[in-house]
Amino acid sequence: MKNTALITGASSGIGREFAKIHASHGGDMVVVARSGDELEALKAELEEKHKVSVVVLVADLTDHTAAQMVFDATEAAGIEIEVLINNAGFGGHGKFVERDLNKEMSMIDLNIRALTEFSHLYANQMVKQGKGKILNIGSTAGFIPGPLQAVYYATKAYVNSFSQALAEELRDSGVTVTVLCPGPTKSGFMDAADLEGAQAFKMKMTGSREVAESGYQSMLDGKLMDINEAKYSVMMNWLVPLVPRKMMLKISRKTMEK
Ligand SMILES: NC(=O)c1ccc[n+]([C@@H]2O[C@H](COP(=O)([O-])OP(=O)(O)OC[C@H]3O[C@@H](n4cnc5c(N)ncnc54)[C@H](OP(=O)(O)O)[C@@H]3O)[C@@H](O)[C@H]2O)c1
Repeated sequence: MKNTALITGASSGIGREFAKIHASHGGDMVVVARSGDELEALKAELEEKHKVSVVVLVADLTDHTAAQMVFDATEAAGIEIEVLINNAGFGGHGKFVERDLNKEMSMIDLNIRALTEFSHLYANQMVKQGKGKILNIGSTAGFIPGPLQAVYYATKAYVNSFSQALAEELRDSGVTVTVLCPGPTKSGFMDAADLEGAQAFKMKMTGSREVAESGYQSMLDGKLMDINEAKYSVMMNWLVPLVPRKMMLKISRKTMEK
């Protein structure tokens, strides 16, 4: 396989678009998610259209053994991962104390634990090869606390922070780390997180393709961070730091209210 990417959450939304874009660059890939049928359909489409090789690995990445199993499978098949796209993730609406704790812990397992494990396993290999690219999907949610999505926002704060620190540690290794921070995006995310009706998701949303294109290009360019929409870039970098904390919490809460 050549220029091989491992893309988590490729069965839908932004991840599916990453897979299509990578294939259009002639890259082979390993795609991971729970929906085997969706992944098989994607494989058939990309192999036919772009003459690339796609390996499907069906896995629930909230399972603590899953990331290591995926890594072992790529190792056993002699697949060298040159591009790692840690995209799989989900959110969940509601007051923390009223939400199902198992769902919150699964969110941490996917959004944080699996991403961290994949980063460690594949970055080690990339460093040995002296080349590689990692693209982690953070969020604008990672810049502020998120009442009514408290755990999700916190998981994305982790992704934003971890990715930047890792990028600096790997600076002279030939391996780049980029974190993509989308705002509300059209995908399966809103339904999966029960966000229908939340103020932030009533606004005009950017399409998954546009978001993925921006992130993929930023990864190729070795950029540290990509807040793909200019309005959110100004907001998160320049306005949010100036707003008093308690006021920011109220504003943030309003955007998640239905
Ligand atoms: N949409 C937004 O507004 C938005 C904004 C900022 C950041 N993001 C981030 O963008 C990333 C992609 O989300 P999306 O918007 O494209 O949403 P999506 O359409 O719901 O896609 C989520 C992907 O993650 C996979 N996934 C979910 N649970 C999984 C599990 N337990 N094991 C393995 N894979 C799992 C899903 O596949 P299966 O269901 O087949 O497992 C799916 O392919 C996420 O990290 C999300 O947090 C989204």
